[in-house]
This record gives sequence, C-alpha cells and structure tokens, in this order.
Amino acid sequence: MGNSAPIIRIFHVYKRYGSQTALADITLDINAKEFVFVTGPSGAGKTTLLKLLYLGEPISEGHIIVDGMNLTRIKRDRMPFLRRLFGVIFQDYNLIPNKTVYENIALVLEIAGHKRNMITKKVGSVLRAVGMEDRMNAYPPSLSGGEQQKITIARAIAGDPKIILADEPTGSLDEDSAGDIMNLLRVLHARGATVIIATHDKELIRSIPARQIRLDHGHLREDTGSI
Ligand SMILES: Nc1ncnc2c1ncn2[C@@H]1O[C@H](COP(=O)(O)OP(=O)(O)OP(=O)(O)O)[C@@H](O)[C@H]1O
Ligand SMILES: [Mg+2]
Repeated sequence: MGNSAPIIRIFHVYKRYGSQTALADITLDINAKEFVFVTGPSGAGKTTLLKLLYLGEPISEGHIIVDGMNLTRIKRDRMPFLRRLFGVIFQDYNLIPNKTVYENIALVLEIAGHKRNMITKKVGSVLRAVGMEDRMNAYPPSLSGGEQQKITIARAIAGDPKIILADEPTGSLDEDSAGDIMNLLRVLHARGATVIIATHDKELIRSIPARQIRLDHGHLREDTGSI
C-alpha cells in the first residue's frame, strides 16, 4: 500500500499564529494511496496540519509539495488544480443553508466544469453512498448535525478527489453512522484515494490498521510509517 511515490512531501514546516507555534519543524512524506491517521491531544496541531496541505492556511516556514506542486511557490492559476486534488471533510466547512442538499453538492461539480448529466448521476450516487438519497431536496438547517456531516462527506467525495482530508469525520455521528462513514472511507481508499484522517478517537484508530502520525504541542512525536 505504501510502496508508491510520495504524493505529499513536507519539509521542515512551521506554522505560527501570532506568537503561538502550532506546528514546529514537521518533516514527512505521505505516499499516494496511503491511509493515515494524524493523532494527538487537543491543540497538538492536527487540524492545522490538514489545513496547510490544501492552502486553507498559509505556511509560515518550510515547504510542502503536493503532487509535484510547491505550495509556497504555487501560481494563482494552478490553485484550482491543487484544490481539485482534495476532498475536504471539516466540521467548519459549512453547507450553504439556503441551497438544497442536491444544490450544495452540484455546485462543487459545476465549478469543476462537469456536464449537467454527469452532475445529476454523481450527486445521486454520492448521496446513496452516505445513505442520504431521500434528503436530496432538504435544506441543511432542517437536518441533524450528523446528517449534515454525511452531506459534507458526500460533497467532499463528489469530485473523485485523489486525496481525502477528514478532520474528526465521525465526531458528530452515532456509532452506526460512524461505522458507515469509516467503511465508506475504506472503500474510497481501496479504489485508490489517499486518505488522511485527523482524530483523537482511540477507538476509531484501533478499528483500522493504518499508519499513525502522532503530534504533540506542534511536534512530530511518532510515525509508525507505512503499513
Ligand atoms: N486560527 C487560529 N488562530 C490562532 N491560533 C490557532 C488558530 N488555529 C489553531 N490555533 C492554535 O494552534 C494550536 C493547534 O491547533 P489545532 O486546531 O491544529 O489543534 P488540534 O490538534 O486540531 O486540536 P483538537 O483535537 O482540539 O481539534 C492550538 O494551540 C490552537 O490554539
Ligand atoms: Mg482539530
């Protein structure tokens, strides 16, 4: 699984928020098609690390290369290519409240330039994958937190991203739904996606044999390497 080329290379990366150092001297590679857990206590820098990968936050120091693109030197016209590599599942990556579930997902595909036929099919298939096809015409505020999380996941995978970044993806879900979502992430991984999950849920980590990268106070404390 981990024997292909790195899709993400991180060299001596620092992230500072004012005087606060959220990440310090992080160096690691993630291979294409790996399944990785980023773990560590609250405030360790897990979310920050994921955000740096898709330029959700600027890098303070060091370099990150994603699929051959150096993020600190990337030209504005390459940004859409970078963003399209990622499917991002974040709690604060909100759905648009006055658009239906269908429209929320279709929008991402429209921006990526897909044809209407393909969009209709794709939205149906990703909603089926998360078990929410019957809520296609609902507006996000009428859904529970867990249901919204499933829609966020459907939206993240609709563009067939090469890399899936998930920040506590099962955080607001009950046990059964959490199991469904983890199974879905495993299926996407089996189909060739690189999956990176930030979590401090020990049970979740135990449920899947995968590489673990452990952060603490912004430092890389442990890396089990590719499994
Ligand atoms: N936008 C921000 N502005 C200022 N400081 C921030 C910001 N985002 C994160 N931090 C700080 O950076 C550090 C790392 O935060 P981060 O959110 O990456 O931790 P985490 O490992 O994801 O924690 P949790 O498990 O609670 O989600 C923390 O000390 C946090 O206070
Ligand atoms: Mg976090």
